[in-house]
Amino acid sequence: MELITVRDKDYSGKRVFVRVDFNVPLDKNLNITDDTRIRASLDTINFLLGQKAILVLASHLGRPKGKPNPEMSLAPVAKRLSELLGKDVKLATDCVGPEARRVVDTTKPGDVVLLENLRFHPEEEENGEAFSKGLAELADCYVNDAFGTSHRAHASIVGITKFLQDKAAGFLIEREVNALSRLIEKPEKPFLLIIGGAKVSDKIGMLKNLLDKVDTIITGGVMAYTFIRANNWETGNSKVETDAIPLAKEIYKELRKRHLEFHTPLDHVVADKVSEDAHYFTTERGTVPIGWTGVDIGPQAIEEYSDCIRRAKTIFWNGPMGVFEIEQFAKGTIEIAKAVADADAFSVIGGGDSIAAVQKAGVTDRISHICTGGGASLEFLEGKGLPGIDILEKRVIQ
Ligand code: 3PG
Repeated sequence: MELITVRDKDYSGKRVFVRVDFNVPLDKNLNITDDTRIRASLDTINFLLGQKAILVLASHLGRPKGKPNPEMSLAPVAKRLSELLGKDVKLATDCVGPEARRVVDTTKPGDVVLLENLRFHPEEEENGEAFSKGLAELADCYVNDAFGTSHRAHASIVGITKFLQDKAAGFLIEREVNALSRLIEKPEKPFLLIIGGAKVSDKIGMLKNLLDKVDTIITGGVMAYTFIRANNWETGNSKVETDAIPLAKEIYKELRKRHLEFHTPLDHVVADKVSEDAHYFTTERGTVPIGWTGVDIGPQAIEEYSDCIRRAKTIFWNGPMGVFEIEQFAKGTIEIAKAVADADAFSVIGGGDSIAAVQKAGVTDRISHICTGGGASLEFLEGKGLPGIDILEKRVIQ
């Protein structure tokens, strides 16, 4: 996949509409708890500022359902971005119409405007034509750096490009596409897939698409319990995605056909409740008592999984091994994060929880690539085209 990127263009003195994904987590007091997504677009922003462009940045935050909601304002993001850039970031209190126009009209080259949350208008998610035109009217050209939202055919991702035909991918999109493409096009072998967490059915498509490419699969979390149940083993009260059991059975058939190495945890930590004051102990696979819930992988599983990780040359990890937010049940996930960091492999991590786990383990810097988009990376690896990226391909544009 060859993309038109900002490197191919000259932006001097131009107003550039930059779609970013600043959908960052906020706490109760509206403080940003993780600014990774803001930092991830700094390369593109600084590059455009270096070219003396005028930046009109746009993002969504949360799911405000088409209505203004002060709790999902981008004001904290404008503040953080201004600290990171060391310059003023003007927040326009609307993303289209006279207010957006007024703020953009007061800018000079090198200025940065952040438009208010795109999803305060229902037309953003509906990919509305008039709304797309309204966004486009604020700028001369378009840059998409919102990898995490590029699987959404929304106005600021797709519709706008009908009106701003000068379009390019930012450096974040380029980095993400390069890393994920390396997984699906000629990955160095052995290729290990680590798949955990919940939302089993969201991940099955990716798993199926990678079956012809991976050599080994290890599982944890709800994903593992769902496969264990599909094999008719006891899982006690562990969370299982029952609707996904038929899919898991289908996957087992495919695995057997291909003779792939597939692991569910040999043992689990089980607890009488999912809470910090729970009683817990370790038990073998298939022996989780009724009333007890699997909350982490056990020591034998950690050992077996660490060995798979040591042997791998390419690793993709999505989803934690257990309830790692609770200290007593974090060991499996943290040990896996450390093993991935120690591996002599090209390692890619996707999904908010796995990223948080890697941060908790303090090994972020030793992972080859951290994806900023959970859903987007899964759809990419599922082999589905992402609408926001497909329109930036050289063969489409030229
Ligand atoms: C994400 O957090 O995955 C992206 O920002 C997309 O958000 P969405 O799932 O609400 O479209």
